[in-house]
Amino acid sequence: MEYLRYYDEIVSRRQSCRDFADTVVDAASVEEIKAYNEVVPKLLPEISTELHFFGGDVADFLGSSVGYNGFTVKAPNYLALYSEEAPHYLENAGFIAQGLTLKLTQLGFDACWLTVNDAEAAKGALGIDTDKTLAVFIAFGHGNKAKKDVRLDIKSPSNVTMVSCEKKVAPKISMQDLLSYKVYGEPVNMELLYTELEDALLSIAVAQSFFNRQPYRVIVDDDIVSLIGLDDELTTTEDQLLNYGIAMFNFYAVLDSTRAGVKMWSFDEAGRDLKLPENAHYIAKIRI
Ligand SMILES: Cc1cc2nc3c(=O)[nH]c(=O)nc-3n(C[C@H](O)[C@H](O)[C@H](O)COP(=O)(O)O)c2cc1C
Repeated sequence: MEYLRYYDEIVSRRQSCRDFADTVVDAASVEEIKAYNEVVPKLLPEISTELHFFGGDVADFLGSSVGYNGFTVKAPNYLALYSEEAPHYLENAGFIAQGLTLKLTQLGFDACWLTVNDAEAAKGALGIDTDKTLAVFIAFGHGNKAKKDVRLDIKSPSNVTMVSCEKKVAPKISMQDLLSYKVYGEPVNMELLYTELEDALLSIAVAQSFFNRQPYRVIVDDDIVSLIGLDDELTTTEDQLLNYGIAMFNFYAVLDSTRAGVKMWSFDEAGRDLKLPENAHYIAKIRI
């Protein structure tokens, strides 16, 4: 199985779903997700992870251990990614799980990430015998068809069309607010970005995040792109790290679809003065 690059899935199709039909996902599709987990790129391949699938009945046991305000979105299927605890294991788990989420999208399923409020309690409720920690928990299945709605399909800032879609869209940060050039807060001249890079950056702008807070920014330089985290009192450290992993997967997957030999994100030091304000922190960089 080949790893797919997902531009459309990221930018125009994936949205969180909280209203699932009872129909269980067929076994062949679950097998496909499992096989995909073997080939999906990893941020830190040396960190071992385990993927497990569950039926809808586990929701009864989870109590308030997952979900906003302890509310588990009901779905016919769930998946959980467990990870060895090592430096950056949550960014790595977020990265991998985003690949799985986009695979689900590509196969026509809907999904919703559920925040892990109590990893120990959720692990106990799920009953998997593993020494790894629960890192990501995702509800998935067939979304109930809601009334048709119109939304923007943003191929790039200069290529926007209206399409009819079935769900309400969460508003996303604009490219102008997301991006800086060389140092924090310096506007980017969008006309100077070449299309592939613009597409990859847009895929960060539309990424899902805890409560749709998008507490991160991006600094574009001539040779590297740096991901910057912003303090956010509503987002826990764990969800921040998962957010970063998601954003990094989107960018990597889109850039990798257009260029040969794209290097993975690195947690090495920024290596330059990004002039970050106090509430902003350098996270990682990738060569472009
Ligand atoms: C780390 C993380 C945790 C999340 N936890 C929940 C959750 O517990 N319940 C929920 O309904 N949605 C959850 N979401 C989904 C976000 O609310 C959603 O991604 C955001 O509102 C943006 O909407 P979109 O995914 O449709 O773009 C979570 C997303 C992330 C990335």
